[in-house]
Amino acid sequence: MALFFSLLPQTVLVASQSCNVDSFNDVLGISAKVVSAVSVSDGHAYGEGTANLAYPIAPTKLPELCALIVNVSSSDISNYRFGLFLPTQWNSRFLAVGNGAFLGGINWLDMGSGVRYGHAVMSTDTGHNSSAVDLTWALNNQERKKDFGYRAMHGSVELAKKITEAYYGARISYSYYSGASTGGRQGLKEAQISPASFDGLLIGAPAWYTSHLQTWSTKVALYDLPVTDKKHVNPSFFGVLAAEAIRQCDEVDGLKDGIVSHPELCDFTLAPLLCSNSPGTDPSACLTEEQVETVRNVYGDFYAEGKLAFPGMEVGSESQWSFLLGGAAPTAFGDAYIQYFLYDDPTWDWTQWDDGIVWQADEADPGNCTADAYDMAKLKERGGKILMYHGAADALIPPGSSQLFYERVAEVMGGINGLQDWFRYFIVPGLQHVTGTVVDAPWYFAGSGSQGRLGTSTYSTPGFEDSKHDALLALMAWVENGTVVEELIATTWKNQADPSSGVLRQRPLCPYPKRQTYNGSGDPDVAESFFCQ
Ligand SMILES: *[C@@H]1O[C@H](CO)[C@@H](O)[C@H](O)[C@H]1NC(C)=O
Ligand SMILES: *[C@@H]1O[C@H](CO)[C@@H](O)[C@H](O)[C@H]1NC(C)=O
Ligand SMILES: *[C@@H]1O[C@H](CO)[C@@H](O)[C@H](O)[C@H]1NC(C)=O
Ligand SMILES: *[C@@H]1O[C@H](CO)[C@@H](O)[C@H](O)[C@H]1NC(C)=O
Ligand SMILES: *[C@@H]1O[C@H](CO)[C@@H](O)[C@H](O)[C@H]1NC(C)=O
Repeated sequence: MALFFSLLPQTVLVASQSCNVDSFNDVLGISAKVVSAVSVSDGHAYGEGTANLAYPIAPTKLPELCALIVNVSSSDISNYRFGLFLPTQWNSRFLAVGNGAFLGGINWLDMGSGVRYGHAVMSTDTGHNSSAVDLTWALNNQERKKDFGYRAMHGSVELAKKITEAYYGARISYSYYSGASTGGRQGLKEAQISPASFDGLLIGAPAWYTSHLQTWSTKVALYDLPVTDKKHVNPSFFGVLAAEAIRQCDEVDGLKDGIVSHPELCDFTLAPLLCSNSPGTDPSACLTEEQVETVRNVYGDFYAEGKLAFPGMEVGSESQWSFLLGGAAPTAFGDAYIQYFLYDDPTWDWTQWDDGIVWQADEADPGNCTADAYDMAKLKERGGKILMYHGAADALIPPGSSQLFYERVAEVMGGINGLQDWFRYFIVPGLQHVTGTVVDAPWYFAGSGSQGRLGTSTYSTPGFEDSKHDALLALMAWVENGTVVEELIATTWKNQADPSSGVLRQRPLCPYPKRQTYNGSGDPDVAESFFCQ
């Protein structure tokens, strides 16, 4: 908060009140330049359209604001840009939002979600211009890797705060962060390298373990490859597997509702799916011994050269398996990382895989992406708070990954109970990667990127704009008022992308290790029928 206020000469504060390029450049050093400043009137849209490959969709019906684009030189061979929304009606808070996957672009849509709260909101393009799966920009460019890893976020936060305080001639009262997937990693990383950047962070399904996660993305696909091998399980079978998981594991949480809410309580067995156990079954609807081994590997934690490298897929996530396991080759998330980030060798291909690659990635950690500085005492000592969440049905980043992060932070910071007063972790039953469900589970609580699933002008949780149903408002109440987040209520609608279709279900999400528990008799679609224990 207010880190740079004292550096700003009074004249800048007065001179910078209008929304034009020249009034901001005095605030910035020589390596940064405002390239665009646009006054957006109330009710209008703002974005870059298709020039922004990563985030072409513009938020609409914005409040009146000043929209800036700033270009920052980070080395002789790299630069990054960030966008900043400065609302006319400012509530004195700052919010940074994150990116997804390897998307290189300013995330205007999530900035739009944030500015509706009245915050000044920033997003960085992380130093490149690309789609989610294009990593060619990183080839032989260690500086761009660093921008992606941490430097673009850190520099953008610092400069955006300076501009914000100069624009309003007032201090920022509180600073927040909201991001999921890569965005979750970006937030944790920034909190690790600069504990004073944020007072509160909302972190979804973080891709924090970059060196392990990306290499595992190749490894997990290889269990099922090549497609000509006897062990190969066709992605069309994943639906059968998902149904079997529901059959065996739905009710262990005390409620038959089609949702595997607590997979950790279920002793899932593949035996009923074995072809040899049901002679005469269509071979595409059962598993051979070799295929059972493949499926077991996918669920299993990955030990590389005898050491835990990455957690496996969770029971209940099968409907999303085809994302990493669907093709004739692993995805770019693994392969392109190894080619363009780790080896700077586009000719590398997955037939050259060996498990030692994980430890090479761990050691090199190109760009210093991995957010594994588990001792976050400085954040805690400042009063900083983290709310982290992860979908139990996520098959892009298994929820075990967040669990591992939480446990490792706990290990160095006084155990799981010792974390409760500053860092809480919520598992979201039935939520896939970041947003969405295929089992009608309540998943919406205004987490990063979720507003965009409902439209381009969504604010908070439609119909429930309060700190019980909106995780960002809950985080603010925790930071500013000390209101501990005992539960968050998740919502889903009859059409999960359309609140006007009416609420289908609401349920509480519980801070780990507490579990969402059905009370045994109430309406399973209302939150009051569940408690955290
Ligand atoms: C990003 O790349 C695309 C395609 O090459 C280009 O059209 C666009 O102008 C670039 N955007 C920025 C912000 O440089
Ligand atoms: C941003 O800065 C880099 C140098 O750091 C420069 O090459 C590039 O043209 C600038 N882009 C814009 C849009 O000003
Ligand atoms: C890499 O990031 C960590 C925080 O995750 C930080 O402690 C460390 O100093 C960084 N290393 C370098 C070389 O920048
Ligand atoms: C803090 O509490 C006050 C009084 O109840 C309330 O008006 C305010 O909205 C709360 N602040 C936050 C961020 O929740
Ligand atoms: C369960 O929750 C419902 C509210 O949905 C409540 O009416 C009922 O009394 C609760 N039952 C028990 C056993 O707590």
